[in-house]
Amino acid sequence: MYNSSPPKAVESSLADIAILPIENAYTGSFHKSYDILLSHDLQIVQEVQMDVELCLLALPGVHKDDLKTIFSHPQIISKQNLRDSGVICSARAAELYGLNILECNFQDESPNVTRYLVLAKTANLPKEHDQYKTSVVFGLEEGPGALCKALGSFWKRGINLTKIESRPNRGKPMRIRGTENLGCRLFNYIFYVDFEASMTDVRAQNALKGLEEVASFLRVLGCYPCSTTTI
Ligand SMILES: *[C@@H]1O[C@H](CO)[C@@H](O)[C@H](O)[C@H]1NC(C)=O
Ligand SMILES: *[C@@H]1O[C@H](CO)[C@@H](O)[C@H](O)[C@H]1NC(C)=O
Repeated sequence: MYNSSPPKAVESSLADIAILPIENAYTGSFHKSYDILLSHDLQIVQEVQMDVELCLLALPGVHKDDLKTIFSHPQIISKQNLRDSGVICSARAAELYGLNILECNFQDESPNVTRYLVLAKTANLPKEHDQYKTSVVFGLEEGPGALCKALGSFWKRGINLTKIESRPNRGKPMRIRGTENLGCRLFNYIFYVDFEASMTDVRAQNALKGLEEVASFLRVLGCYPCSTTTI
């Protein structure tokens, strides 16, 4: 176990990879994960999509009718030998904690997918023929159409965007316009964009050149394939 956070452990070579949940199809983006992408010097090397499949687990020999309480942490009922309690988690947790599965797949909606990003110290060498996504983060100068010009760089080259997210620009969270004090102040943002192209693709390289011309900063967070299997 590490004393530092998983991304820090990868940065200091204590771990090979860190896995960040980035988005759920129903609950949306994990904002803290977006901030981690910017504050650490790591590369996205893979996206993994996992279906959320919830199960009700209990100690061996316990039946549904015995249950009085339902928890969400399996350690609790296995460690304390609680025979009147169940727990909601994944089927894999049953194996890990020696519990029985009473029922599965009762989540509100299926498929309910969570996307995870795998981070490593060294970037992938993207393969030309595979389907790769690329993620970037950028800031913009002020003015009308700034975001439109930035995204237009992808549109002009026929590149599909799969996700856009804005977060506060922590380096400079507010914008001061002249000396006016109109009561309402302006907030400053940075933008995260995922697009469907590999960095080996000349269209992607040109799109980023175009984006660079209108961006106050631009960083490529990674170029990576997607898998739907478990890690
Ligand atoms: C989807 O999964 C997330 C993460 O487990 C959960 O918070 C959310 O309630 C689920 N939504 C639906 C509609 O099943
Ligand atoms: C972009 O998205 C459209 C609509 O889903 C799809 O038909 C097209 O093949 C995609 N283009 C590329 C280059 O991936």
